[in-house]
Amino acid sequence: EKVLFNGKMMDREKASFSFDDRSMYFGDGVYEVIRVYSGHPYQLEMHLQRLQRSADELDIPYSIKEQQSLKERVIELIDTNGLTHDGYVYVQLSRGAAARDHLYERHIEPFIFAFTKEMEIPLDQQEQGIAVYLTEDIRWLRCDIKTVNLLGNVLAKRQAADHDCSEAIQHRGDTVTEGSSSNLFIVKDGQLMTPPADNLILNGITRQVVLDLAERQGLPVSITPFTTAELLEADEAFITSTINEITPIKEWRGTKHGRIKIGSVTKQLQTKLRADIE
Ligand code: PDD
Repeated sequence: EKVLFNGKMMDREKASFSFDDRSMYFGDGVYEVIRVYSGHPYQLEMHLQRLQRSADELDIPYSIKEQQSLKERVIELIDTNGLTHDGYVYVQLSRGAAARDHLYERHIEPFIFAFTKEMEIPLDQQEQGIAVYLTEDIRWLRCDIKTVNLLGNVLAKRQAADHDCSEAIQHRGDTVTEGSSSNLFIVKDGQLMTPPADNLILNGITRQVVLDLAERQGLPVSITPFTTAELLEADEAFITSTINEITPIKEWRGTKHGRIKIGSVTKQLQTKLRADIE
């Protein structure tokens, strides 16, 4: 098993990094999770462009040129590790290693690593739906940046699991934002609704693909904020992410609760996404 270690292929056991790495002290780094289907990365370019954007927003020096070579290295890593089935690639770009100091210097060399992992498509959840836990969004105000600083997300996920829910759906006051590691969609009167890609959510790649698929089908789409009360009145609801694709919601717990049916719009989009992947 190899990992990508600052552009070099290395045995996983031999790869160790500095405990002065800023991603460890400050969560000072960005990342991407890219799906691999039958050995092929899905939407790799979009993911690497988002990695670039995250790096730019955090003033981590990372260039388009490096992005191009990273693309080739990621494909090489998948091949080298013999990931011929379904799985994912995890890529992390940290600001780099330096003696612990809140103030970062711009000459620090960024550090990048990547690994692959096999992972099945969660078909059961996609068919049967999941329960989700509604909870206050306690994260910072730049959730559009995919940083490894994920404390709000991990606390929300634990809270959800403690209530036998597979995902947490977060809200700021009454306004719904997103899952702990997914985006949220609802369907109301035949219209697909999702919160806008502002600073309060991560603009998910799956979210963008689903919006595109919906538009191509002529499905009415409304990209606008909505409230927790509207959630409970929705006809259908689902979450999207690279790992879980489209997963229907069947039950709300937490701040508000109720049940919801898995509907035809969700199923139709699942079919379209599957077709796009294949
Ligand atoms: N999470 N919102 C948050 C907070 C996320 O962490 C993710 C993805 C998404 C969905 O984005 P995408 O469709 O690009 O995967 C939305 C990844 C999978 C993770 O952290 O493992």
